[in-house]
Amino acid sequence: MILDKKHAVVSGGGSGVGEAIALKLADESNLVTILGRRQEPLKNVANKHKNISWRVCDVSNSDEVNNCYKDIRSAYGNINIVVANAGVANSKPFHKMSVSDITSLMEVNLIGVFNTFQHAFMDMKADNWGRMISIASTAGLKGYSYVSAYTASKHAVVGLTKSLALELASKGITVNSICPSYIDTPMTDRTIKNITELTHISKEEAIEELVKLNPQKRLIKPIEVAKVVSWLCNKNSSSINGQNIPIAGGEI
Ligand SMILES: NC(=O)c1ccc[n+]([C@@H]2O[C@H](COP(=O)([O-])OP(=O)(O)OC[C@H]3O[C@@H](n4cnc5c(N)ncnc54)[C@H](OP(=O)(O)O)[C@@H]3O)[C@@H](O)[C@H]2O)c1
Repeated sequence: MILDKKHAVVSGGGSGVGEAIALKLADESNLVTILGRRQEPLKNVANKHKNISWRVCDVSNSDEVNNCYKDIRSAYGNINIVVANAGVANSKPFHKMSVSDITSLMEVNLIGVFNTFQHAFMDMKADNWGRMISIASTAGLKGYSYVSAYTASKHAVVGLTKSLALELASKGITVNSICPSYIDTPMTDRTIKNITELTHISKEEAIEELVKLNPQKRLIKPIEVAKVVSWLCNKNSSSINGQNIPIAGGEI
């Protein structure tokens, strides 16, 4: 069955890329539930579109995701699309990292993706149709200095994508990840602030530093990521499976 009006879950939908994805899918007549830990940003995004509702949910907690999905399933029907976008980042030289610097990222960036996908699986299996999409990163495809924990967590998501895509291919479910380079979002704003504070360079110089590996020398716009999500959700995109799609101006 291919549903016309789908129920999409977007984790981390209260800001940045997640907000752009939620608005794009809502504009295309899907019912969208956005998830995050803070109520305020979620409410603000939901107020921008009648097709968007929100739930407070920490994606790193499997029980919380399961209970949240029970609630939204009874309100809006089976979950057809999951966009595992919630993510966190940190940056440190390897020798200064603690174990918690890596486990805290893994809990959200890997286990969070696992949880948001897994609890929607039975819905997708029942409908013989589904889209599992994660927002990984170019850091899932190559290495960068001083972000080894983040890079490891995004490589793990890329591995999960490749294997799940094979496992679920016969069930009408596709699994893909999107791998952007630096995007113009609050996460990048925080990175820029850190760089300016640590190195005393200007904001413009910090941005120049971040985009130097992107041949187009610019930050990616959140809508560019949202449009690829929308394309993957299209019923004619069912052969696109197990891909980790860079959006990086030619860096990859
Ligand atoms: N910005 C970039 O340059 C860039 C590049 C490549 C890939 N990405 C990836 O793109 C995704 C979106 O990032 P962004 O740039 O849009 O950053 P952002 O604005 O900081 O958004 C991250 C979102 O994730 C949510 N979140 C974090 N931990 C969560 C948890 N445990 N449970 C539920 N929600 C959680 C946050 O909301 P709460 O804090 O309220 O929970 C927030 O809304 C991330 O996976 C990131 O790694 C970003």
